[in-house]
Amino acid sequence: MIVLKTPIVIAIDGHSSCGKSSFAKTIANELKYLFIDSGAMYRAVTLFAINNGLIANGKANVEELEKHLSSIDINFKQSNNFAYQTYLNGENVENDIRSMQVSANVSEISKIKAVRTRLVALQQKMGTRKAIVMDGRDIGTVVFPEAELKLFMTASLEVRAQRRFKELSDKGSTVLLTEVSDNLAQRDFIDENRAESPLKRADDAIILDNSHLTPEQQMEWIKKYLEKFQ
Ligand code: DC
Repeated sequence: MIVLKTPIVIAIDGHSSCGKSSFAKTIANELKYLFIDSGAMYRAVTLFAINNGLIANGKANVEELEKHLSSIDINFKQSNNFAYQTYLNGENVENDIRSMQVSANVSEISKIKAVRTRLVALQQKMGTRKAIVMDGRDIGTVVFPEAELKLFMTASLEVRAQRRFKELSDKGSTVLLTEVSDNLAQRDFIDENRAESPLKRADDAIILDNSHLTPEQQMEWIKKYLEKFQ
């Protein structure tokens, strides 16, 4: 365990499927901090929209979705083996929010201003006492612009597609590698080019390209940045 002098906020942003959540989780575990995967929150709203017929053929019914936003409750529970489970209105949706159907629609939902306003407010509330590691696309730029430590993670598209493909295949999905790769490239493009809070590196974020790093090497890398808070 690493002990810091005072609690800090660690913001991790970056491209899809470059291991942001896994890294954020490991750091949080090491510091005994709260870990929040903000992407899971956008995925949960997307699942809600799909289940309630509020998105069809890639087009969201923004007006109707806005009406439901205040009644969408999202929270996280940690099981004893350190796995995080996402709950949507009391139901465990951890598996459902990782499906290709949700991945294919999440960009459409996450570009809606009202969705972002609601989720950013929830995320900021989770960080009021600091001692939090949150990963996403706009954490260092919008959610916690004052975060003490900001990382911007990336990896080559090939490496990211292979990792995500393995993850999905291990869960029994029959998805094709090209399908995964196309979805990642498309989500990166939308994330970087949308009008609302596009994905971009905060000026004060440290870049981490982990294409050729093991999780252990990544952890060694971050430790030298944590030292200054010890
Ligand atoms: O991290 P992820 O791939 O599970 O995120 C799913 C989608 O949610 C991603 O394509 C972009 C969106 N997202 C966002 O717009 N802002 C965030 N802070 C986190 C995720």
